[in-house]
Amino acid sequence: RRKIAILTSGGDAPGMNAAVRGVVRTAIMRGCDAYAVHEGYQGLVDGGDMIKKMGWDDVQGYLTTGGTVIGTARCKAFRERWGRLKAAKNLVKNGIDALVVCGGDGSLTGADLFRGEWPDLLEELVQTNELTKDEAATFSHLNIVGLVGSIDNDMSSTDITIGAVTCLHRICESIDSISSTASSHSRAFVVEVMGRHCGWLALMAGIATGADFIFIPERPPSGDNWQDEMCADIKKHRDLGKRKTIVIVCEGAIDSNLQPITAKDLKDLLTDRLHLDTRMTILGHVQRGGKPCAFDRNLATIQGIEAVEAVLASKPDVPSPMIAMCENRTKRIDLMKAVALTGEVAKAIGRKDFVAAMQLRDPA
Ligand code: F6P
Repeated sequence: RRKIAILTSGGDAPGMNAAVRGVVRTAIMRGCDAYAVHEGYQGLVDGGDMIKKMGWDDVQGYLTTGGTVIGTARCKAFRERWGRLKAAKNLVKNGIDALVVCGGDGSLTGADLFRGEWPDLLEELVQTNELTKDEAATFSHLNIVGLVGSIDNDMSSTDITIGAVTCLHRICESIDSISSTASSHSRAFVVEVMGRHCGWLALMAGIATGADFIFIPERPPSGDNWQDEMCADIKKHRDLGKRKTIVIVCEGAIDSNLQPITAKDLKDLLTDRLHLDTRMTILGHVQRGGKPCAFDRNLATIQGIEAVEAVLASKPDVPSPMIAMCENRTKRIDLMKAVALTGEVAKAIGRKDFVAAMQLRDPA
C-alpha cells in the first residue's frame, strides 16, 4: 500500500487547503494511505505528531478555508544536512515514499535537492544505525511532486500559481474601496502590493482597476526622467477632469539603474510636484489571507488530483515533476528545470535584461 504525504511550505496561499484535500482524497480513492506533514519541512524534521495520517473526513471544510490549515514555515533546519537526515529518517519510519510539496520556488528547490540526496541520506542513516539495511532497501527511491502555491505567480513554465487569482481579487477590491474615497476627496493614492520580484499582481490589478500608473520590476520606467513622465501623465488625467489618482507599485519595483522605487518616493513626488493631496496604502497581508476564490479552489483541486496520479506513474529515472497549468491544461513539467528558469529570471533582471526575464518566465 503506497503512503503519500503532502506538506505546504513558504508563504501561505489561498487554495493550499484545497490542494491538501485533493491529494488526501485522491490518494484514498486510489487505495493509498494519505499523510499530512504539519508546519512544512519543520514537521518532517521534527516527526512524531507532526506527521499525521489523514482520513476522508479530516479535510472536510478545507475547500473554502484560507491560509493553510496544516501550517507552513520557512524552515532553517531543512537547509542543513542534519535536518534533511532527520526528515529522511522520519519519512522511512512512517513508511512514506512519496512527498507532494505545495509551495513557492524555494520550497520546491528544497524538495528536489532532498530527492537527489535521498540514497546518500539513507546510506548515512544506516551507517549511524538510525535505520536498518532492510528499511533503507525498501525505500530506495523518494517520489517528489511539486505544486506551485504562491500568490506572486512568479514561477516559470506555468501560467498561474495557486493563490494568485484570489490575491488579485483581494487587491482589486481594496483598490476599488480606495478609489471611492480618493474620488470623494480628489486625492491621489499610492498603493503598494506584494509580489516580491514579480510584477504580475501589480500589473493585473492596475489593468483591472484602471490605475493611472503601474511600477513593476520587469519593466522599469525608461531613462532618468521617468518622474517627469509620470507627473505629466497624471497631470493630463487630472486636466481631463479625473478626481482621483491611483498609482500601483509592486514591492520589488526598481528603476532602470536597478534602484528601488518605493511607495514613499512616489507619494513625495505627487505631493511636491503636482501638489496632490496624496496618501500611501501598503496593502500587506490582507492580500494573502482569506477565502480562496472559485478559480483557486478548482485549480488546487485539479492539481492535487494530478499530483497523486503523477506519484503513481513515477519512475526512479524520471525527473521529479511540477504540476503546471499551460493553456488551461495541467501539465507535468521537469521540476528542476522550472526552478532553474525561475532563478534565471531574477538574474536577468539583475543584468537589466528585462526582455530575457520575461521570456524565461514563459519559455513556451
Ligand atoms: O511570496 C509570497 C509573499 O507574500 C511575497 O509577496 C511577500 O514579499 C512575502 O511573501 C512576504 O513574506 P512574509 O509573510 O514572510 O513577510
